[in-house]
Amino acid sequence: MQIAILYGTETGNAEMLAEDIAAHLDDHDTSVTNLSDMDPADFTAGTLYLIVTSTYGDGELPASAKPFEEAMQAAGPDLSGIHFAVFGMGDSEYEETFNFGGKRIEELMKGAGATMLGARVTHDASGADMAEDLAFPWAEAVVAEAEPALAA
Ligand SMILES: Cc1cc2nc3c(=O)[nH]c(=O)nc-3n(C[C@H](O)[C@H](O)[C@H](O)COP(=O)(O)O)c2cc1C
Repeated sequence: MQIAILYGTETGNAEMLAEDIAAHLDDHDTSVTNLSDMDPADFTAGTLYLIVTSTYGDGELPASAKPFEEAMQAAGPDLSGIHFAVFGMGDSEYEETFNFGGKRIEELMKGAGATMLGARVTHDASGADMAEDLAFPWAEAVVAEAEPALAA
């Protein structure tokens, strides 16, 4: 099973976490891609997509994920048969818009017909947990859930 880790970032936290997840899943075939370089036409059934994104502005996607949001809206792709999971990074200091970036990605993917595995995680930069302490068990659980459906 191929695992594509996509990240949306403004100041690099999501990128670092995406790289750490790839290193943690090193017995799998992984790739790490900035959402700014992801064309919705590139989604492939048989690949598991782990999407890590932060939240910026007034509850918006971070700069590197904005082109992807625009492309998804413009292309309206049919992503049925695509499996994904979402790890959101935010800060509860922004209580009105806490983790809206991950929520937005979930909406975009589900709106295109993709299937979400596991529950969306909401990391809190003001909380006690290190992002990787939540992300590694999340990634392992999603991979285990995906294996029966996606293992070739
Ligand atoms: C200017 C600014 C705006 C932010 N807005 C939000 C927000 O609306 N909601 C939220 O949950 N987190 C918000 N955050 C927190 C970031 O999402 C969080 O720090 C994250 O770890 C940054 O990851 P990145 O470096 O990958 O972009 C904001 C941070 C900054 C600096």
